[in-house]
Amino acid sequence: MGKSLVVSSALVFVLLFNFHCGLKANAAGTEDGSEAWGYVEVRPKAHMFWWYYRSPYRSQDPTKPWPIILWLQGGPGGSGVGIGNFEEIGPLDTYLKPRNSTWLRKADLLFVDNPVGTGYSFVENTDLFVKTDYEAADDLTTLLIEVLNGNETLQKSPLYIVAESYGGKFAVTVGLSALKAIESGKLKLILGGIALGDSWISPEDFVFSWGPLLKDVSRLDNNGLLKSNSLAEQIKQQIDAGKYAEATNSWLELEQVIGSSSNGVDFYNFLLDRGMDPVSLTAKSELSIEEIGMRRYSRYLNSLRTSAVGDGDLDSLMNGEIKKKLKIIPSNVQWGGQSNLVFNAFQGDFMKPRINEVDQLLAKGVNVTVYNGQFDVICATKGTEAWIEKLKWDGLKTFLSKDRTPIYCGDEIITKGFIKSYRNLRFYWILGAGHFVPVDQPCVALSMIGSITQSPVATK
Ligand SMILES: *[C@@H]1O[C@H](CO)[C@@H](O)[C@H](O)[C@H]1NC(C)=O
Ligand SMILES: *[C@@H]1O[C@H](CO)[C@@H](O)[C@H](O)[C@H]1NC(C)=O
Ligand SMILES: *[C@@H]1O[C@H](CO)[C@@H](O)[C@H](O)[C@H]1NC(C)=O
Repeated sequence: MGKSLVVSSALVFVLLFNFHCGLKANAAGTEDGSEAWGYVEVRPKAHMFWWYYRSPYRSQDPTKPWPIILWLQGGPGGSGVGIGNFEEIGPLDTYLKPRNSTWLRKADLLFVDNPVGTGYSFVENTDLFVKTDYEAADDLTTLLIEVLNGNETLQKSPLYIVAESYGGKFAVTVGLSALKAIESGKLKLILGGIALGDSWISPEDFVFSWGPLLKDVSRLDNNGLLKSNSLAEQIKQQIDAGKYAEATNSWLELEQVIGSSSNGVDFYNFLLDRGMDPVSLTAKSELSIEEIGMRRYSRYLNSLRTSAVGDGDLDSLMNGEIKKKLKIIPSNVQWGGQSNLVFNAFQGDFMKPRINEVDQLLAKGVNVTVYNGQFDVICATKGTEAWIEKLKWDGLKTFLSKDRTPIYCGDEIITKGFIKSYRNLRFYWILGAGHFVPVDQPCVALSMIGSITQSPVATK
């Protein structure tokens, strides 16, 4: 039944047009305008896919502009169009059933398969993958120019860049690159703010947080802690020496050491074990880092599914029904087909910190929100707090000295988290959530996003 819903709304129009600079774009959407999607050729032969959803709650009050959320998934190589949309915050889940807690309740949603090669995005030549966060930011800014410059309605909506995991490094670099494009008149956009959810902003701080955190919650003993800290120290030295690719390899080694010392803790939620799925640590040498990471990621989300209707498998959904609905995905393009290559191309940038970029955004007066799930390991709250303390921002001292305010959700009387805010920096500690905050705590995540985006329906 849910499935017929998507198919029947798939009366799509397809447009083909050329832009002034010679880049091609190819777009389509539903007849009622509630959804639009397309490709932008961000560089010759490099095609980036986007999917926009207009909120059914969108209001027209000019004093309270309706926000748009640009969701950026991690990886690098994780598909926002697939994972973020169908597993976390979009209008339908992987069984194509309506998601009650969709962030469309508060804002329009724009998913982008970023960087090129992710999800439905693709390159025609493997030289065209990006290797750094900054290169990815340039491509994404090109996409924003093509999607937003021709549409006055969308331009009036402040855009909030909301990221998860590695997406945080994209969010801060694209935030800076978008601001530059706005200042030079190339991009017509109001940047509302940046939100960094469980974001990989400082790899060094995260690897140093893993051992102590897991020791404190009894998941490691002293032996495990010593091994973990000594590898973290090695990673720090590699980072300091600019040996980023080596640091990426040590990072993988550290994950393996923690995996065996903890009897397989789940890196996305320390209350869980890695599942019983085929990827075992013994098979690691045959798998790229990306494959290990992605399978863990989808296994964790799979473990949260309880419904027995359909198979709910994201890969079959995206390469089957959704591909059919969208109509413009070239038949030889497999959703996720180039993801591993996307990850591998980042080997030299993966371990680079982006704390300076957060500082630049704060100095420019951009609102920056950081939120973190209590049970996350990979981007643990402990590591996030450590990089926050390294900010050079002149409001930091006051920010750190302030007390937190508890937050609740709906009629529930249990504490759901804490918030602290000073000037343009805000931090949410979300209790009872791991890495995937909107999945684990949908109620508080929804009210948080309403507040971050100053949605006209924030209080409803
Ligand atoms: C702007 O984009 C929205 C969403 O795709 C669409 O409904 C609207 O018709 C567009 N407006 C123009 C002028 O293209
Ligand atoms: C759906 O969400 C609304 C508001 O967010 C809430 O009041 C309602 O109880 C939810 N319904 C279900 C079935 O969870
Ligand atoms: C930034 O945050 C402050 C404080 O929460 C708020 O008053 C201001 O309107 C925000 N700006 C934007 C563009 O959201």
